[in-house]
Amino acid sequence: MSYYQVKSLEQYFKHYNKSIREPRKFWDKIADENFTWYQKWDKVVEFDMQEADVKWFLNAKVNITKNCIDRHLAKRGNKTAIIFEPNDPKEEAQHITYNELYDRVAKMANVLREQGIKKGDRVCIYLPMIPELAIAVLACARIGAVHSVIFAGFSASAVTTRVNDSQCKMVITSDGAYRGNKSIDLKGIIDEALEKCPSVEKVLVVKRTNAEINMKTGRDLWLQPLLEAAIPNNVAEIMDAEDPLFILYTSGSTGKPKGMLHTTAGYMVFAAYTFKNIFNYEENDIYWCTADIGWITGHSYILYGPLLNGATTVIFEGVPSYPDFGRFWEVIDKHKVTQFYTAPTAIRSLAKENSEWVEKYDLSTLKVIGSVGEPINEEAWHWYNNHVGKKRCPIVDTWWQTETGGIMISPLPFITPTKPTYATFPLPGIQAVLMDEKRNEIEENQIVGSLCIKFPWPGMARTIWGDHQRFKETYFTAFPGKYFTGDGALRDEVGYYRITGRVDDVVIVSGHNLGTAPIEDAINEHPAVAESAIVGFPHDIKGNALYGFIILKEYGESRDRANLANEINQHISGHIGPIAKLDKIQFVSGLPKTRSGKIMRRILRKIAEGDFSNFGDTTTLLNPEIVEEIKNGRV
Ligand code: WT7
Repeated sequence: MSYYQVKSLEQYFKHYNKSIREPRKFWDKIADENFTWYQKWDKVVEFDMQEADVKWFLNAKVNITKNCIDRHLAKRGNKTAIIFEPNDPKEEAQHITYNELYDRVAKMANVLREQGIKKGDRVCIYLPMIPELAIAVLACARIGAVHSVIFAGFSASAVTTRVNDSQCKMVITSDGAYRGNKSIDLKGIIDEALEKCPSVEKVLVVKRTNAEINMKTGRDLWLQPLLEAAIPNNVAEIMDAEDPLFILYTSGSTGKPKGMLHTTAGYMVFAAYTFKNIFNYEENDIYWCTADIGWITGHSYILYGPLLNGATTVIFEGVPSYPDFGRFWEVIDKHKVTQFYTAPTAIRSLAKENSEWVEKYDLSTLKVIGSVGEPINEEAWHWYNNHVGKKRCPIVDTWWQTETGGIMISPLPFITPTKPTYATFPLPGIQAVLMDEKRNEIEENQIVGSLCIKFPWPGMARTIWGDHQRFKETYFTAFPGKYFTGDGALRDEVGYYRITGRVDDVVIVSGHNLGTAPIEDAINEHPAVAESAIVGFPHDIKGNALYGFIILKEYGESRDRANLANEINQHISGHIGPIAKLDKIQFVSGLPKTRSGKIMRRILRKIAEGDFSNFGDTTTLLNPEIVEEIKNGRV
């Protein structure tokens, strides 16, 4: 019996029970039967959840790109691995076969080695959604370099922080990026960012927009000529199961971004297994995930998961609204997409437009449609179901995190009956539990608790780059011995989970995890600002939007408020990126603080939501009178 694919609800329960009773045997069999290894493991898992130390497939030797590419060549060499759909529909799509992908990754890997990159070195990738992004990621994995992809919407100073944190030796970028009708000067952003990044020795530049850019002698090199000179053959680096594969930054509620570190074998097994089951991928399917490779969704479900299964995966450079609101549906029609995976924020924004945009195209090839990034509200769920899935495609509402490496809770299509707003069952291998405030497991139904996972799974992050203590404190101390997700959830009578949202100070805007602290830090750097507090409030399209409460310095008091608000948003945009801009700004004379100096965010959240009914216990506030002022000044 194979555990790689669940084929019925009955089998789901069987596999699930097996995975709980004998997790080692369960994962051992999956890892053994579905991948190629240089050497198998001595032990399946070793862990200490108190110390946040987890290792999977100990002493196994593997290279993930051998599994993503080489092993498919005999059977699928001429099959399309990647379909590249450019930003501009008038530009021709590209079909990259597995054979061609092998050649291109091999060449890129050789270029990286020639340019001095060795196993263990960190390489920052700051590219638009073009084939070179996928190829650069895979080339790093090929030679054992640790890739750190930074979403190309991040600002120069966000890049500086991330590059310095992981001490990247190289940056791979492009002359520019197309996004809808705009073209963005990526290289200019990198030049600015690298002024403060002494660790970077080389910058490789892909030509995309043909924009005029500066090339710094001795540091910057055009990539194309190097690739043309490289040979299309490459011996993969032999990696230990626990060697780092990549770092991906995610925001927390406090402090600088966290460089989540994922390692090789466990991540590989988990990405492949979850992709296969959640998208019910079959040999001739065309799979499309609209995320950016700069987020974990793109890592696991545009690149690694699909390629590990020998799939055809679409890389889309554009945006849902360009040249018009039919773009997503046109791409599905054009490439005969069978699985479509997107975010609630995109669904909501397209649902607002005339439904003719979606009716205009043939979506009959679709089999499974998915959602990720934040809770999908009932209205959006029904629109997606009616207009895109035409009531015949199951919606997989997939709950997971950058930290989990892959999907944790989700319906299995054609197997788990779906229920709007419920992510339903945990996957086999995932021991989800809800905890109450007294740190006891909640056994009852319909009670919101803190969602924790009580046994390790192969895809989990192993640490925060350079700061294991923070990893342990953030995820493993609130509920000792368990991984704490930071999310609240409830369970219904059949055991379905519904994610209710974050229980901490993280705000999910348009499906992106925005830590409030880095935004506050950016605002506070503005010369007119003394202090600030950011909270999320519900927003029709973005899920949540940001509301900023700002105290001005004396110097700011005399300034025009509307101009200041604009300046502050420009400032945020420059420091973090446009996604972190505030929808509402209220200037206040003080913030509600406890005696220990902590801002009472729950009150600010209520005011931002316009709910003045119950602020809870305010007796611990140092300045209770401020609540009235803030309430009256709500914008
Ligand atoms: C947070 C993780 C996982 C890739 C994208 C975001 C929220 C994610 C769902 C969902 C309800 C969801 C959670 C989670 N979230 N998917 N299907 N239903 N909430 O990755 O940036 O690491 O954010 O996104 O709050 O903790 P991320």
